[in-house]
Amino acid sequence: MNIKEWEEYRSITEGIDSFVRELEDSYLKKMVGHVCSTGGKRIRPLLLLLSSEACSNSYKNSLEAALAVEMMHSASLVHDDLLDQGLFRRNLPSAPKKFGASRALLCGDFLIAKSIEFISPYGKKVVQIFGKAGMDMAEGEVLDLQLEGKEFSEKDYFECIYRKTASLFEASAAIGASAAGADEALAKRFGLFGRQLGIAYQLVDDLLEFLERLEGKESKHESETLPRIYMREMPREEAIKKVVSCVEEYVGSAKELLEELSPCPAKEKLFRITDYITLDLLDTV
Ligand code: IPE
Ligand code: IPE
Ligand code: MG
Repeated sequence: MNIKEWEEYRSITEGIDSFVRELEDSYLKKMVGHVCSTGGKRIRPLLLLLSSEACSNSYKNSLEAALAVEMMHSASLVHDDLLDQGLFRRNLPSAPKKFGASRALLCGDFLIAKSIEFISPYGKKVVQIFGKAGMDMAEGEVLDLQLEGKEFSEKDYFECIYRKTASLFEASAAIGASAAGADEALAKRFGLFGRQLGIAYQLVDDLLEFLERLEGKESKHESETLPRIYMREMPREEAIKKVVSCVEEYVGSAKELLEELSPCPAKEKLFRITDYITLDLLDTV
């Protein structure tokens, strides 16, 4: 099953391309094109659309919300590359490297503003979930900075990755469900699924960074990673194994949350994407 061939993936790509195409010609358009039209796995908008589909059999009414989460995510990467002195992102020079720090900062601001426009028709509850994720992401990055040079505890690490990464995964799945008419309890369940998956994803990304197996991105500053925290108390191989079992636990708990949904293609795809961004990437570890 090739995710890039999924109808939902194609709709996201078309939506992003048409948003960029319709921007007025300007330096901002050039920057936004560089950031948004150059790939990325589109995990968060996929989670959102598939969550909608699992709740209502259709994702069509959620497309703009999916674009909103992808714009917010892209903005966070531009700002993260400012903070981390990112050099390469998505196999290309990072926005700060290519356009300079000041312009990159404004490109991130523009994308956040655009994401607000995209999410606004979905009503107060969805907009609140979206706003909370944006605030959590900023908090997570502040935590990351604050703890620089200090000893991150395991608890600090999990708090940081929940805020900076899993919060938007959580919001994506919850918004997808909510926009498709799910009641609050079901939307929360989807949100929790997204949260567990987001934590597993950041654990894997950090583990691959620790093992120097990440391709397509590079930055001067690297955040603390869980294997390094564990290595304060155990040998390297044991620390790696412990992180892998932690990923398996989060993946298991994410899947369990959706287990009781009746079988449907969207549920299968949610399970597929869960493995694709976690266990599949660990195959080589
Ligand atoms: C990068 O997110 C930041 C992390 C949470 C590790 P993605 O890996 O989803 O980035 P793209 O959009 O695919 O480039
Ligand atoms: C994740 O932080 C970035 C955001 C969630 C905004 P990292 O610094 O760990 O991610 P990469 O390695 O730059 O993608
Ligand atoms: Mg970074």
